[in-house]
Amino acid sequence: METVLLTGGAGYIGSHTAVALLEAGYETVIADDLTNSEAGVIDRIKTITGRSPRFYNINVLDAAALDRVFEENEISAVLHFAGFKSVANSVKDPVGYYKNNVGTTITLLETMKKHGCGRFVFSSSATVYGCNNPIPYTEAMPTGSCASPYGWTKLVSERILFDAAVADSAFSAVILRYFNPIGAHESGLIGEKPNGVPDNLMPYITQLAAGKRDILRVFGSDYPTRDGTGVRDYIHVCDLAAGHLAALDYSRGHTGAEAFNLGTGRGVSVLELVRAFERVNGLSLPLEYAPRRPGDLAEYYADAGKAERVLGWRAEKTIDDMCRDSWRWQKNSENL
Ligand code: UFG
Repeated sequence: METVLLTGGAGYIGSHTAVALLEAGYETVIADDLTNSEAGVIDRIKTITGRSPRFYNINVLDAAALDRVFEENEISAVLHFAGFKSVANSVKDPVGYYKNNVGTTITLLETMKKHGCGRFVFSSSATVYGCNNPIPYTEAMPTGSCASPYGWTKLVSERILFDAAVADSAFSAVILRYFNPIGAHESGLIGEKPNGVPDNLMPYITQLAAGKRDILRVFGSDYPTRDGTGVRDYIHVCDLAAGHLAALDYSRGHTGAEAFNLGTGRGVSVLELVRAFERVNGLSLPLEYAPRRPGDLAEYYADAGKAERVLGWRAEKTIDDMCRDSWRWQKNSENL
C-alpha cells in the first residue's frame, strides 16, 4: 500500500484524514510541529484505527528535517494541511503568515522534486473566491479580492501549484477549497481544539454550552439573508476527510493542477445552526445580536457538483450529525 505524508496531520482536519487513510489501508507519515495541536492526538488516532501513523515532530519550513522524512519513507503523495489559520492573527502578522503558509508549500515542492514525488493535495479555502462572486461558488469563478492575509496565503500557494504544474508535465496538484468544517469524529477522541477564545462559530457554541463562555454574540442581524444572520456551508470534518481520500485516488494518474470545492452545497444561517444545536443536544444557549464582523460576507456556499462528478465524492452527514458530534467532542475533550 502507498505511503502518504500528512503535514499538519495532528491538527483538526489532518487528524480526521489520517484516521480515514489508516482505515483505508494507507501507510501514513505525519509531520507536525504541534504548534496548534498536541502529541496525544497521535495516540488517539491509534486508538481509533488500531494502526499507528509514523510521527515526525518537525516544522515543514525546516528543509533538512523534511528531507530526512523523504529519505526514511517511500512517500508517493503529500497532503499539505500544515498552516496558520486564524484570520484575525493574519491581519496582525501578515509577514509571519506568508512566511509559514507559503514557505511550507515551497519547501515541500522543492523536497518532493528532489525525491521524485509528484502528487500534491492542498488544503485551500473558499475564502479564495473573494467578495465579488455570485453564489453558489463554482471552481470556474475568478479568485482574488480575499478578505484577509490568511486568504491570500492560500491563493498564493494555489498560484504556485498551478505554475509548478505548467513547468512539470508529470506533476499533479489537487487543490481542495474547504467551506466551513465543523463536527468531530464520532468516537469523541479527536476534534477541533482552538487556543483561547474561539473565533469560529461552532467551537464558540460548544464552549458556551460547556459553560466556558457567557453568551454568543451573533455578528450581524441585518444581512440580506432569510433571517438576517450570516449564511455558510458547514461541512462535517469526516466528510471532508473522505474528500481527501477521493482526491488522493484521483491524483493517481492525474497531471496538472485542478481545484475542487469541498462543501455540501447548502447554506445554513447562524441562527439555524444555533437552533439545530439546541434541539439536537437538548440545550438552550444565550445569545445577543452584535454588529457585523469586519470582513465577513453575508452568504456563501459551494456548488459541490464538480467534486461529485469528477471525484465521485459528496458530503453525506447532516447538520444534526455535526451538532451532535461537536458537542460529544467538547464534553469528551475535557477528560483527555
Ligand atoms: N459568527 C458569529 N459569532 C461568533 C463567531 C462567528 O455570529 O462568535 C458568525 C460569523 O459572523 C459568520 C458565521 O458565524 O457569519 C461563521 O463564522 P466562522 O468564524 O465560524 O467562519 P467564517 O465563515 O468567518 O470563516 C471561515 C473559515 C476561515 C476562512 C473564512 C473566510 O473558518 O478559515 O471562512 O472564507 F478564512
